Amino acid sequence: MKLVRLLSLCLFLLLTMSCDPVTRHKVLTTLFDGVPSLPPHMMYCPEPELHKKKEAQGANATAAREKALKMASIHKPFDEKRCKDCHDFSGAVGFVVPLQDLCLHCHKGFIKGEQVHGPVAVGACLACHLPHDSKYSSLLQEERSKICEKCHWENRVAASMHKKVIDHNMACVDCHDPHFGDVEYFLK
Ligand code: HEC
Ligand code: HEC
Ligand code: HEC
Ligand code: HEC
Ligand code: HEC
Repeated sequence: MKLVRLLSLCLFLLLTMSCDPVTRHKVLTTLFDGVPSLPPHMMYCPEPELHKKKEAQGANATAAREKALKMASIHKPFDEKRCKDCHDFSGAVGFVVPLQDLCLHCHKGFIKGEQVHGPVAVGACLACHLPHDSKYSSLLQEERSKICEKCHWENRVAASMHKKVIDHNMACVDCHDPHFGDVEYFLK
């Protein structure tokens, strides 16, 4: 009878000693045989759940900060929280103007030049750009040097010339304007 009491006192002490279930389980398994496999820790004490929540909240805030730091470009109206300059949360379209007109709604007179790149001509700015922010420059979906590969994997007429420039780590946009131009192939 005394031994049982002593043991339960020990158990009580062990349980209150540490709120970390893994350490506690280790201690218990070293002291006693036949300790069952680790039960969910909320059975021991509710605090870890609370800690976890707080940790998660902390981690979220850190992630948000890290995200912001990693953003190479942030769209000015998004940064200024002018969501409704673009979004119309009441309408069926969801935007103040149809999506294919949205970018040019503010970037008026953006398209110049005699030659216009296919996706630009049809207002498909979001084929290359993101609307809010990006970890790449100029709100690009991809690295500046990789964005053209999204669509242009065709064998180029000027293949050998292009192979040379790519081997020299040049980006397509070092020579081509991504949007438009006055000369063929929007060469700069
Ligand atoms: C410059 C215009 C513009 C501004 C300013 C803007 N958005 Fe957007 N947003 C868009 C476009 C365009 C899309 C759709 C992207 C797509 O479909 O690829 C979008 C998508 C979204 C989505 C859908 C999920 C996602 O992220 O793709 C949410 C949610 C959203 N925006 C919230 C906001 C909030 C909140 C703000 C203000 C802080 C804001 N937007 C500011 C243009 C804008
Ligand atoms: C509500 C007005 C508005 C709309 C709509 C808008 N923009 Fe902008 N955009 C701006 C402003 C303001 C700037 C900052 C210009 C400056 O600083 O000179 C900007 C800058 C940019 C830049 C340059 C960012 C940089 O880091 O260099 C890009 C790229 C861009 N916008 C793309 C788009 C695309 C793509 C769309 C359509 C999804 C769009 N914009 C729609 C207002 C708008
Ligand atoms: C084929 C991909 C592509 C499409 C489509 C595209 N852009 Fe761009 N855009 C780029 C690239 C790449 C850059 C960065 C150029 C650089 O770094 O030299 C850029 C840069 C920009 C900039 C900032 C600097 C500048 O050149 O003025 C603005 C603003 C912009 N784009 C707006 C738009 C708008 C508006 C549309 C749609 C009408 C659009 N873009 C469609 C690839 C694209
Ligand atoms: C979203 C898909 C898409 C992306 C991304 C894209 N393009 Fe294009 N590109 C097209 C389409 C579509 C055409 C029109 C093809 C045609 O007229 O035969 C085109 C045509 C061209 C042409 C003219 C070819 C010709 O024979 O007249 C050039 C040059 C060009 N793109 C360069 C680029 C560069 C540089 C980039 C990266 C900044 C790029 N493209 C990214 C879709 C894309
Ligand atoms: C060193 C400058 C330079 C770079 C970098 C460059 N180009 Fe070109 N590109 C040219 C020139 C010059 C022409 C015209 C060739 C001709 O007239 O025969 C051309 C032509 C083209 C054409 C149309 C003719 C054809 O061969 O299909 C496309 C499409 C094109 N380039 C896409 C790209 C893409 C995509 C990249 C990136 C992978 C790129 N270019 C990188 C200089 C460049």
